[in-house]
Amino acid sequence: MMKASPILVSHDGPVLRVVFNRPEVRNAFDEEVIEALSACAASAAADPSVRVVVLSGTGKAFCAGADLSWMSKAIAYSQVENLADAEDFALMLERLDTLPIPVIGRVHGAALGGGVGLAAVCDIVVAADSSVFGLTEVKLGILPAVISPRGRAPGHARELFITGSRFGAVRARDLGLVHEIVSEADLDTAVARRVAELLTSSPSAVAAAKALIRDVAGESPKDVIGLTTGRIAAQRVSPEGQEGMRAFLQKRKPNWSL
Ligand code: COA
Repeated sequence: MMKASPILVSHDGPVLRVVFNRPEVRNAFDEEVIEALSACAASAAADPSVRVVVLSGTGKAFCAGADLSWMSKAIAYSQVENLADAEDFALMLERLDTLPIPVIGRVHGAALGGGVGLAAVCDIVVAADSSVFGLTEVKLGILPAVISPRGRAPGHARELFITGSRFGAVRARDLGLVHEIVSEADLDTAVARRVAELLTSSPSAVAAAKALIRDVAGESPKDVIGLTTGRIAAQRVSPEGQEGMRAFLQKRKPNWSL
C-alpha cells in the first residue's frame, strides 16, 4: 500500500489549503512533515496566485505537536543531530510566520506543544469551542523551546510553560492565540468568511502590513518614524495603493477584489 502523504496541499482558486494528514497520531509531526511544510511555505511565498493559506488537520485534532515516537528515537541521536532537527523545525516555523500571505489556522480537537506553535504562526486562528491547547512539553521532560519566541503573552507563558496545563479556546483567545471561537460544525463557514474578507484586501498591502508588524515590534515609536513614514509613502505610490484609493473614490471594486 502506498504511504499517505503527511500533508495534503491543494490549490482552491487563490486559496492554498494545507491539511496535516496523520490522523492516526492526531497529526503529530516528524521530520517528513517538517520538511514538507517548509517546502510548501517556500513555494507559497514565491507564488503570486496564492492569496490565502489555510492550515488545518484531518481526523480528531489540529496537531498533537511533535511525534513522540520520532522524538524518542532522538534519544539515540547526538546533541548535534538533535540540534539539526530543532533547526529544521525552527526554519519551518520562521517560513510560515514570515509568509507575505495571510495564514488562517482552522483549529479543532487538540493543539498541543508544537501544535500551539503552528497556531501561533497563523495570522487568524478560528477555533472550535471544544478545542484544547497546551504547552505540555515539561510533562515529557522537554521544553517548548523553538516555539517560545512565537508566543503572544509572556506573562501567561511563565505559568503555561511550567505547568504544562491544558486550556480551552476561551483562554486561548484571551492569550491572543485564537481570534474567533465557533462550534466545530461552523468551523468551515467561519473560515470561508475569513477567506472572503481577506480576498478584498490588497495583496501587496497585506504583505507590507505583515512585514510592518514584525519590523516595529519592540521598537520605540520615535525610533521607527523613518521606517513607518517610508513604508506608507512607498505603499501610497505603489500600483495597488493607487488603484485602491482610486477605486474607492470612483465607487468601484479595486482590481484585486475577486
Ligand atoms: N506523538 C505521537 N503519537 C501521538 C501523539 C504525539 N504527540 N499524540 C497522540 N498520539 C497517538 C497516541 O499515542 C495514540 O496512538 P495509539 O492509537 O497507537 O494508541 C493516537 O495518537 C491517538 O491518541 P489518543 O490519546 O488515544 O487520542 P485522543 O483523541 O483521546 O487524544 C490527544 C488526543 C492529542 C489529546 C492526546 O493523544 C495527547 O494528549 N497527546 C499528547 C500530545 C502532547 O503532549 N504533545 C506535545 C508533544 S511535545
